[in-house]
Amino acid sequence: MGGQLGSTAVKTVLETRSFRSCRNMIKLKLYSTAAALVAAVSLQAQTAKISVDVAHPSHAISPTLWGIFFEDINLSTDGGIYPELVRNRSFEDADTPQYWTFSAGRGRAAVVTADVQGHPAVPPLNAFNRKSLRIHADGAFTLRNDGYWGMNFVAGAGYTLRLAARAERFDGPVTAKLLAADGSILASGQLTDVDRDWQYHTLELTPTAGDPKGKLELSGKGHGDLYLDMVSLLPKNTWKDHGLRPDLAESLADLHPRFLRFPGGCWVEGDDFAHMNHWKNTIGDIDTRTPLWNIWGYNATQGLGFYEYLQLAEDLGAEPLFCINVGMSHKEVVPLDRMGQWIQDALDAVEYANGPTNSTWGSRRAQAGHPAPFNLKYMEIGNENGGPDYLERWPLLVNAIHAKYPEIRLVANTDLKGRPGPTTPEPDMVDEHYYESPESFMHRADQYDQYSRSGAKIFVGEYAVTQHAGKGNLRAAIGEAAFMTGLERNSDVVIMASYAPLLVNLNHRAWNPDLINFDSSAWYGLPGYYVQKLFARNQGDVYLPTTVESPEVEPAPSAGMIGVGTWNTAAEFKDVKVTGPDGQVLLASDFDHGTNGWTVLGNGANWGVQDGALRQTAEREFTRALAGKLDWTDYTLTLKARKISGSEGFLILFHIADGDDRTWWNIGGWNNTADGIESGGTLDSKPCRIESDRWYDINLTVSGKNLKCWLDGKLVHDINYEKADKIKSLYATSAQDKESGDLIVKVVNAGVGPIETTLDLKSATPLPGHGTATVLTSDRAADENSLAEPLKVSPKTEPVSFSGDSLTRSFPGNSFTVLRLPTK
Ligand code: AHR
Repeated sequence: MGGQLGSTAVKTVLETRSFRSCRNMIKLKLYSTAAALVAAVSLQAQTAKISVDVAHPSHAISPTLWGIFFEDINLSTDGGIYPELVRNRSFEDADTPQYWTFSAGRGRAAVVTADVQGHPAVPPLNAFNRKSLRIHADGAFTLRNDGYWGMNFVAGAGYTLRLAARAERFDGPVTAKLLAADGSILASGQLTDVDRDWQYHTLELTPTAGDPKGKLELSGKGHGDLYLDMVSLLPKNTWKDHGLRPDLAESLADLHPRFLRFPGGCWVEGDDFAHMNHWKNTIGDIDTRTPLWNIWGYNATQGLGFYEYLQLAEDLGAEPLFCINVGMSHKEVVPLDRMGQWIQDALDAVEYANGPTNSTWGSRRAQAGHPAPFNLKYMEIGNENGGPDYLERWPLLVNAIHAKYPEIRLVANTDLKGRPGPTTPEPDMVDEHYYESPESFMHRADQYDQYSRSGAKIFVGEYAVTQHAGKGNLRAAIGEAAFMTGLERNSDVVIMASYAPLLVNLNHRAWNPDLINFDSSAWYGLPGYYVQKLFARNQGDVYLPTTVESPEVEPAPSAGMIGVGTWNTAAEFKDVKVTGPDGQVLLASDFDHGTNGWTVLGNGANWGVQDGALRQTAEREFTRALAGKLDWTDYTLTLKARKISGSEGFLILFHIADGDDRTWWNIGGWNNTADGIESGGTLDSKPCRIESDRWYDINLTVSGKNLKCWLDGKLVHDINYEKADKIKSLYATSAQDKESGDLIVKVVNAGVGPIETTLDLKSATPLPGHGTATVLTSDRAADENSLAEPLKVSPKTEPVSFSGDSLTRSFPGNSFTVLRLPTK
């Protein structure tokens, strides 16, 4: 963005209390990188003072303060930490053999559903696994699976191929091969004696060379029908021998989490009840765990089920916190008189986790390999639910759970719409979620100073900088770090907090940003990953009162291009004009030269020009055409738009800093039910329906912090899109580690330039005068890590020395520093 670092810059920070739910995030997947990242300050030297009252420690820091939230989102489990290499192993995903390639001279392959009355009868593998693949062989055939964008084969490592097969007349052997991406054979073996009845066959395979983009091939030759099911290829090497991908599990362990919230999120709510996480369907033999369509856009095998989550928590040394559906999905509510099953599921979950081995559900846990209780202490009732339906269902679950298990601590949701939460019975904890800009998080650094010290404790169960974050940049990490200083300072009230989401397969980003990014063989953490790690690994036991005197800074204004777009809709746009505040025409497009001057984007989008209008005719998600300049701040955009077909209306984009940015006026969004301003969250929303074959007049004006939108001459939005508040430049918190005696001072500099800071430690006893400083920073606020440069933005540790109980240090702009200072 061009030249915005002057001290007159006056905008940023969403005024709206911006919770963001997965309902709108299904559209809000990716956010911008480059622009509006940097708080503007005058670049002259700044000074500050931080005082730490070492002699008068305050409250204990909650031992469970820093944890992780693991949701089955972004292929974090299948294609992620659950290391099944075959995609669609049980052929339940679709009516066609999705993710499998079949080739044969004359044979054919099809997914068939069990039919025991058929001729011939097609028996199911078991009562829950009713689809299988029927290969009608007429000569030679091959069947291939690429897994999740390639299978990671490590030279010399062991892989177990296990599949169920049965045959009608087909009597040839089946050859299994592990192939490299170029087709060369890395390992092979044969399966013989396929019977008329379903039987499992196993092969141990060891690749001679490694390839992160390998594939599995099954081939055979003969005549007749071969049926396959549950074709599974699993690496033998798993984390702690408990079945998870080691590098990803280590990446979690490295965060030193004190709790593990699971398995969602929206995955717990489900878009509807048929597609929500029912823990009882995720336990037992994996071939009875029916895959389920996940709200985040894929089938979940449930290979990482309730048992495995509990095991993961134990292996991480983290308290499990199970989030269970409250009888509300995104679309439905269970009638009050039918809540019995929901209540029973909650009670049974506790029994499964903690009950004796002779109890109904405790015995299932023991059978799975864990006779000892998992010691589940925390449960969350619902996710992002609220309003009257939630208030009615909360006591039903809570009273039943507490009657049987009074020791379980129960977490209530904060309503996304700000309506009052449940009070009877009083929750042990209330879960708050924040997805906002870096500056909003900086503003929130002291919000918990005002919270009541009595009543329910706070669990900040989901938070992340999602605006102006790129795919997770340094500036986002700095916003989060500033916020986290406030959580530590108030950890007598905020007793748990977790970033969200945790993991993303780089080939399936359903939400952005995500803390840990991976492909089939490697991963990297966002700069924010290192913030999480530094806080958790330098927590301390007791808070030391800390005051900060530092200059205020003015955030830079948002700026960027304009654009038009669609979501599952075909539409056309004409008479596009952008005017500056002085009336100067910045852009006028009659499309005489086709799409020249426009950047057209979108997977499968079909942009073109016809009859003087810019048309997009593919009914695909997230199609955009962008024009204009990155440094445009204030302007009026006018145009006409007409829907051709599809399920929604128009996207009118503004302040677009890069191709991933999603700051827009969404007209006819949410399946053509609403019209809203979206920027990191839905800032304003009104009911709206867009008709096809009708031209609409559109006017969008951004001016300073204000945004106005007119549809057909009617003002529909008039909001403070941004806020002019200044932000503090320095944020700090201090703690003492009882065992080592170390003082731990965490300092965030949210300004652009370095700040020369005096750190006054007010110690009652002399200090040795040495220690370390671990600093997370980078050249540019927009800097990110990647698979190619995983540690580009990562902490560096250096020695620190000082005398007396005061030291002076320059904290670089956009930095997070942890000072660890021994006291003995
Ligand atoms: O963290 C991603 C999603 O954000 C979660 O599923 C949901 O709880 C929230 O809307």
